[in-house]
Amino acid sequence: MKLSGCYLLNTLEYDQSKHAPPPHSIPPSSVQDIYGGNFDVRHLETADGLTERHKKGWGLSSLHEHYYLITPKLPEGKVVNKYGEVEKLALTPEDWQVRWGKGHTGFHKSAVNSSLQKYVGELTGGRSEVRVLVPLCGKSLDMIWLVNQGHTVVGVEFAEQPVKELFQENDMTPIVSDVPGLPNGKLYQGGKLSVYCCDFFHFTSAVAGQFDAVWDRASLIAINISDRERYAASITSFLKPDGHYLLETVEYDQNKMNGPPYSTSAQVVEQLYGAKWNIQQLETGDGMTDNARKWGLQWMTKNVHLLSLKP
Ligand SMILES: C[S@@+](CC[C@H](N)C(=O)[O-])C[C@H]1O[C@@H](n2cnc3c(N)ncnc32)[C@H](O)[C@@H]1O
Repeated sequence: MKLSGCYLLNTLEYDQSKHAPPPHSIPPSSVQDIYGGNFDVRHLETADGLTERHKKGWGLSSLHEHYYLITPKLPEGKVVNKYGEVEKLALTPEDWQVRWGKGHTGFHKSAVNSSLQKYVGELTGGRSEVRVLVPLCGKSLDMIWLVNQGHTVVGVEFAEQPVKELFQENDMTPIVSDVPGLPNGKLYQGGKLSVYCCDFFHFTSAVAGQFDAVWDRASLIAINISDRERYAASITSFLKPDGHYLLETVEYDQNKMNGPPYSTSAQVVEQLYGAKWNIQQLETGDGMTDNARKWGLQWMTKNVHLLSLKP
């Protein structure tokens, strides 16, 4: 079996002194003994399987059918991701690079985000020209849209592939340069759009200055849960005192799928940002997508928050 594989098992349990096997009666304890060493055994259901044939032909007064879902035990720190692959629980930026290479980029949208278009006035504080940070930007078209609205946009993305594609696919030829103070980092720049190709956790305001606004879509929710606090601290360090932070999050039953995206409740947003930011929930509603359906989720909620630094 593949490490990401599943085995659905059906067994019978009955009194073998009344009827000679086969089929063999196999109680749940035997299934656990046989498979429990290398597999996680989930007993899904016990159903009454007694029929007239069992009563009259086999002389039985009871027969149970058991159903199990049996999955290989994964090595410590590994999970099965939504693409059915075994992956590390905590992704490194290099793992994201591999995802880009494989085309595992279901998060990329071919249209501009509707929350951004709806709340751009709140994000910019109504100003016609601001400096916007887009952390973990991929090749989001939101950046092109913001530039077309007159704003200066700075994206940060580790993987070089989407950064190159962003410029190519939008008919822009960037100037590519090294960045003092950012070892292994590169800056792709074309007009009012700059994208720093580096690990976000190496990116500081000493390198890029401060911002009037942060647009965060599929960024906080993509970060390893163990990295959320330092991500939030980093975002906070980039904002000017009168700046605004527009944050889109999703919520779903985390037991049904491993992230990213990670389910991020309003309570988590409060825990991460509440000390330094006033948080306004602009919108909460159905966030179900075709992808979420494909991943086996039954519901997904989308929340849009506007954060402003406390005085
Ligand atoms: C879920 S995607 C979202 C992309 C984009 N915000 C969008 O809406 O399409 C997360 C992106 O973050 C990038 N990424 C992950 N960890 C990073 C890190 N530590 N530094 C910079 N980029 C990172 C990934 O390569 C990926 O493109």
